[in-house]
Amino acid sequence: MSRSYDDWLASTAAQRATSGLHRSLRYRDATAPLIDVASNDYLGLARDSRVVGAAAEAARTWGAGATGSRLVTGSTALHRDLESTLCDFLGGEDALVFSSGYTANLGVITALAGPESLVVSDADNHASVIDACRLARARVVVTPHADLSAVENALATRSEVRALVVVDAVFSTDGATADVVALRRLCERYDALLVVDEAHSVGVIGEDGRGLVATAGMAHDPDVIRTVTLSKALGSQGGAVLASRAVTGHLTNSARSFIFDTGLAPACAAAALAALTVLSESKELVARLHAHRDYLADALDVARPAGAVVSAVLGDPGRTLRAAETCREAGVLVGCFRPPSVPSSGSRLRLTARASLTEVEVKEACAVVLDAIGRQR
Ligand SMILES: Cc1ncc(COP(=O)(O)O)c(C=O)c1O
Repeated sequence: MSRSYDDWLASTAAQRATSGLHRSLRYRDATAPLIDVASNDYLGLARDSRVVGAAAEAARTWGAGATGSRLVTGSTALHRDLESTLCDFLGGEDALVFSSGYTANLGVITALAGPESLVVSDADNHASVIDACRLARARVVVTPHADLSAVENALATRSEVRALVVVDAVFSTDGATADVVALRRLCERYDALLVVDEAHSVGVIGEDGRGLVATAGMAHDPDVIRTVTLSKALGSQGGAVLASRAVTGHLTNSARSFIFDTGLAPACAAAALAALTVLSESKELVARLHAHRDYLADALDVARPAGAVVSAVLGDPGRTLRAAETCREAGVLVGCFRPPSVPSSGSRLRLTARASLTEVEVKEACAVVLDAIGRQR
């Protein structure tokens, strides 16, 4: 390898190791007897027999892959059904399925922003939103987290013709929600569109899991655009945009991450469809998730979040890594979040309240985590 790269790779690896920021892959066992409070399979649907069965049948019918981009051969009847079912369940005029939540965010923000526009983005937004802003070639103002007056100031003083305000509905590292109602009001006052990333919100927020925008009564507002992932509460993989037909038509013609990307695999589309059916037929899963979340938050002595994520902030990345390892050795899988996923002093154990866990398992997970971080029960 080139000497300059050799030196650079070795020194950056050494830096990561000394600052407790090294990451490596760990290949999961299909049947390991661990209590999982780490995954984003919030409702346990990834292993639901109806969801798995639908995926298997779709693979047999349509093949293992989508075979092409959505505009060439990658759109099947399953994609069409998924788009209309997403509209029925979440409300909204139209939906467009992408290969992931990441590409959905890239597609919407880059296709709707550009040299003549402003993007206002919350500092705590997900990396896919940050990357989309970087690619958009628009002027981007990153506002301090949840600072409505900074959003207003950015909109009020803009010289660009068009503006987008982009926010995560539920922030992925602490489960807090954005004030989408107040943001929508600001957008109306200053003629902007609101883009809400509902990745951690669908299947979690509201009694029926329809998400933050629908719960706030804004599902049919043409000036509110939602991105969702199929990869968390819906237990599948993929993403989608919910918006007016004018917007989805524009995305179909100009979102590069839609046009130049292989369509979502039919098995994933079928799995997400089945998951939406399960979710729409029962409120019990969402209620169980909420109960587990409240138990976890109370046990860890943090405020109950609206989302399914409860975090124990430890600060130091090395200490966080050791605590996560201790939990694993004791049979509990927790998320270990360190920079750049969180700010420099915000390393934390991240626990997800998953509906498929029993009360006994949630209690056991709490006890192990409290021991690992040296806190009294
Ligand atoms: C807030 C948020 N948006 C978007 C994504 C990307 O979704 P996907 O994993 O489907 O690409 C994630 C995934 O971690 C996320 O947390």
